[in-house]
Amino acid sequence: MALEDSFWLDISLGNFRANVAQARSQLAGSARLMVAVKSDAYGHGGAAIAEAAVSAGADALAVLDIPTGLALRETLPDTPMLAWLISPHDDFLAASAAQLTLGISHSWQLDAIARQCEGVTTTVHLKIDTGLHRNGCLLERWPALVTKARELERAGLIDVEGIWSHLADTSLEEDKRSLERFHDALEVAHAAGLSPTIHHIAASAAAKDLPESRLDMVRIGIIVFGVSPFDERSADELGFAPVMALRATITEVNEKSATITVGMGFAHGLMPLPPSTGWVSWNGQRLSLQSVEPHHCVLGWPETDSPAVGDVVTLFGDPAERSPRAEDWAAWSRTIGDEVISAMSPSVPRRYLSD
Ligand SMILES: Cc1ncc(COP(=O)(O)O)c(C=O)c1O
Repeated sequence: MALEDSFWLDISLGNFRANVAQARSQLAGSARLMVAVKSDAYGHGGAAIAEAAVSAGADALAVLDIPTGLALRETLPDTPMLAWLISPHDDFLAASAAQLTLGISHSWQLDAIARQCEGVTTTVHLKIDTGLHRNGCLLERWPALVTKARELERAGLIDVEGIWSHLADTSLEEDKRSLERFHDALEVAHAAGLSPTIHHIAASAAAKDLPESRLDMVRIGIIVFGVSPFDERSADELGFAPVMALRATITEVNEKSATITVGMGFAHGLMPLPPSTGWVSWNGQRLSLQSVEPHHCVLGWPETDSPAVGDVVTLFGDPAERSPRAEDWAAWSRTIGDEVISAMSPSVPRRYLSD
């Protein structure tokens, strides 16, 4: 962080590592722990978080796409990494040579591996769509996909190490139905001659509330960033602390209009809010949020003391400062905490705190 930065994100690697350890004991149980860092670790910055996840005991990483996996491979040569957002323009040979595990949803992806990766065995996890409809092979195409996968496996082109899915987490009942569909899909795969050893479907919410969904591995994202996947239970109650705290310095005070300005706004990734919604903290006191503009926010005057230009306010993520949580911003803007933290623009400097 440059001294002149007027807003920044404090990223607590200490809290993150503690959350990963908590996920291992509370959410994984005897299953392996895969931490989902996706492309930029929900706005926290991919490389630092990926390394911290592994040092805190993650067995594997879910890395979204092949370019992200290739970039992380340089610093994490041995960590199993699953990339699942596969594009026709990807370099499958580079992915295979880097020993990335590919999450396969479509038969054209197997064709691309067969074409590009002759002479090497690519590790794959086949993904079945169990109801989320975001990615994964549709149930009606599954028999053809597993048959083709078995042919490629016999030819030594792939190793079907895993079968997986992702849950909608809209309700426990829906997740249970998806889990049943998953078990049915496994039977179809076994009947085709496949014998994968890693089955995985649960992310943060199901790993907590539906222990039978943990199977061989859980893929945990949002909760290790200290943001709750549930509306009615906070991350704190679940034993997870925020990792990202957003701070900004006061750039203007106007006693006449009783307003304070900080120089960051929705152009930097803050959620736009209706007028007079929410609050931020200053020296442990609440300052009302009067408006979020493109490049600044207008705050109300505190009940006691007078703030000064250069004072720091915390917009979210620091319980010791009695600031709001990312989840509060999510409630104010009718979205989910994932969006509040992931939306932080790369123009907001990240300061990594290692304790
Ligand atoms: C495929 C996949 N696995 C795991 C996760 C992590 O989910 P969560 O953040 O709910 O733990 C996600 C997040 O959307 C995902 O898309």
